[in-house]
Amino acid sequence: MEMGISIDLPQEDVIIEAIDVHKHYDTGKVVVKALQGVTLRIQRKEVVAIMGPSGCGKTTLLNCLSGLDRVTTGSIKIANQDIRHLSDRQLTLFRAREMGFVFQTYNLLPALTGLENVELPLLVSGVSSRVARARALASIEQVGLRATSDVAQSAQRKRQPCSEKRMSDFYA
Ligand SMILES: Nc1ncnc2c1ncn2[C@@H]1O[C@H](COP(=O)(O)OP(=O)(O)O)[C@@H](O)[C@H]1O
Ligand SMILES: [Mg+2]
Repeated sequence: MEMGISIDLPQEDVIIEAIDVHKHYDTGKVVVKALQGVTLRIQRKEVVAIMGPSGCGKTTLLNCLSGLDRVTTGSIKIANQDIRHLSDRQLTLFRAREMGFVFQTYNLLPALTGLENVELPLLVSGVSSRVARARALASIEQVGLRATSDVAQSAQRKRQPCSEKRMSDFYA
């Protein structure tokens, strides 16, 4: 994938910035150049869709932008912080506190109830169990899932990501 923009935006309005990002996968036999010089800026409150044919590098780009994977060269800044300089532990905390993800597969833990799945990211981020429970309940209530939140079953997983996503709102 190659993309670039050259519009100058006021720096305080930029929430995600990628500058000349390259990502290579070294498979041992071949080196796959998934991203080749991607530069983009996303403003606060902007909604952006990344589209392209299968294999063009969309998932690679999203993984790099969100700190799930590291770039080969180039830089990624989130709210002006260059995430290249964060350790794995710092990156994990950064994702837990600052980001919301809705994955293609729902990534819910089947052994936990809906409510427990929603409060888990808060507990990982160091929020006390009492506060996490209260926030999770409030969030689940808000999206109308209170009635089924004590159930751990696959049918419910289809709807739960909405409330998971909402947990990131508490850190906004
Ligand atoms: N872990 C990996 N190891 C080697 N090659 C990979 C890996 N992940 C993705 N690729 C390759 O990188 C390119 C971009 O893949 P990907 O980002 O998944 O594209 P998209 O999400 O647009 O379908 C593809 O050629 C893919 O085969
Ligand atoms: Mg993909």
